[in-house]
Amino acid sequence: MSGQRPLKYLIVYGPTQEPFDPVRYLTNRSTGTMGRLLVQAARRSGHRVTAIQCPDQARTARDLLRQLRSLIGRHDVFIMAAAVCDVRPARVSGSKIKKEALQTVRFVKNPDILRELRKRKTKNQAFVGFALESHALDRNAHKKLISKGLDLIVGQKVSQKIDPFGPVSMDVLLLTPDGERKAYARITKTALARILVSCGEFLARQKASKKA
Ligand code: CTP
Repeated sequence: MSGQRPLKYLIVYGPTQEPFDPVRYLTNRSTGTMGRLLVQAARRSGHRVTAIQCPDQARTARDLLRQLRSLIGRHDVFIMAAAVCDVRPARVSGSKIKKEALQTVRFVKNPDILRELRKRKTKNQAFVGFALESHALDRNAHKKLISKGLDLIVGQKVSQKIDPFGPVSMDVLLLTPDGERKAYARITKTALARILVSCGEFLARQKASKKA
């Protein structure tokens, strides 16, 4: 860290869950591996870290958004690695839904957390996000980078043959809004975590050093 003040990182990871009833919920295959390694890398670099692991500390997308709204202002670097369920059942039943009725469960859209938090983003904060794509990785990751107000996005492919979940090595693409593009082949999540923590630090310090 070269003698500079430690930064405050907010790192969110793991899968959210959306309950239907007391028995069932919607979720996804995220394991939280990347997030745990990010937390470890940021702490080892001497930074202060607020870690939120889904679903233990924030179960649903709306729980998570509520918590992040109050936390975001106190951090320099926000790394959003949570795998958020994009939809939720329109109604959570207090009693177990009978199987015949399950087919009629209606879904509604969840908030896009990054899009909501960008409204509160200050000029000194650096936001890092991920893009999981089956097609057109460059184009789709770039769209998310811009629409979610990010300073860096990590694009990853997913398909029947490419499984990015758990402690695997991956091909990733890093994009910034000013057109920087860097591809890494077969990188471990441990190595990627170190890179992302130092990119976050660089971006936040660069912003802080710019005159208003
Ligand atoms: N994300 C978010 N809020 C959501 C969904 C995703 O903040 N409701 C964040 C993720 O944590 C990630 C980034 O947005 O950093 C991209 O997530 P991804 O699942 O790739 O894309 P989506 O926005 O969900 O779009 P789609 O599923 O249509 O590709």
